[in-house]
Amino acid sequence: MYLCNELIEMHLSPKYSIIFILATTFLMSCQHDIINMFSNFSKDTVFVVTPPVIPNPGTVTTASDTVCFNTEILPLYVSYCGSAGCHDELSHRDGVITTSYGYIMQGIRAKNVSKSEYYTIIGDDMPPRSSPQLTTTHLASIKKWIEQGALNTSCINVCDTSVFTYAGAIQTILSNNCGGCHGTKPGSANIYLGDYASTKAYVTANKSIFTNSINYATTIAASKRMPPSAKMVDCKLVQIQKWIDNGYPQ
Ligand code: HEC
Repeated sequence: MYLCNELIEMHLSPKYSIIFILATTFLMSCQHDIINMFSNFSKDTVFVVTPPVIPNPGTVTTASDTVCFNTEILPLYVSYCGSAGCHDELSHRDGVITTSYGYIMQGIRAKNVSKSEYYTIIGDDMPPRSSPQLTTTHLASIKKWIEQGALNTSCINVCDTSVFTYAGAIQTILSNNCGGCHGTKPGSANIYLGDYASTKAYVTANKSIFTNSINYATTIAASKRMPPSAKMVDCKLVQIQKWIDNGYPQ
């Protein structure tokens, strides 16, 4: 009864009414911002960047300056942050998921690097010290992508398949797409792909497992297809295949 009177009084007294109106207005404007935030970055929006003109098929002569989200940025967030137990959909530690454009944009502000928490936290708190760390080259790509507007860009075949040495191509492919899980010893599933000798030794001994895995062979379980986020673009698969076929040039 006492509580009831209190409530009635709260609604009737002008003092409380003003507080109530202010609070409601505040909440409504907040909600409006949140809705705007989501509608700005609809998960379905894909800006397709036309790949650079390729005079001789397979040889990129003019590199586009646009950072491709799907081939360059997403693999980093999946590999270094989105592994099982961390920021994949299932684990979503601290409510953070980094396995798709829509989720990643919840911590990125287009064209505002310093307000992009999913960028500024890298190397500070995250990934944890014991986990593989992103390199300065990785960070530069993410920064550039944010500065260019953090678009959901996807590019097709952005590499030069005539280059397939470890130093010239393979090391970067593995670092970008596999490094977060297989880049420090012992590596996920005890597979370490963090340096030339170890990668060569593993692939030599497990050639068909390795090629089936990266080519998303339908004969193997989905969980064995690598990287787990999505199949790498054909161009990169060609580079890896050539590296293997040509005896793992350094
Ligand atoms: C997000 C973490 C993650 C990333 C990124 C990742 N892997 Fe894996 N990898 C795993 C896990 C976990 C397993 C064990 C899967 C299983 O046994 O079901 C595995 C297994 C494998 C296997 C063994 C497959 C088999 O048939 O036994 C190979 C080969 C492999 N990874 C290569 C790669 C390569 C190459 C890349 C990058 C192009 C990559 N992985 C990226 C986590 C990852």
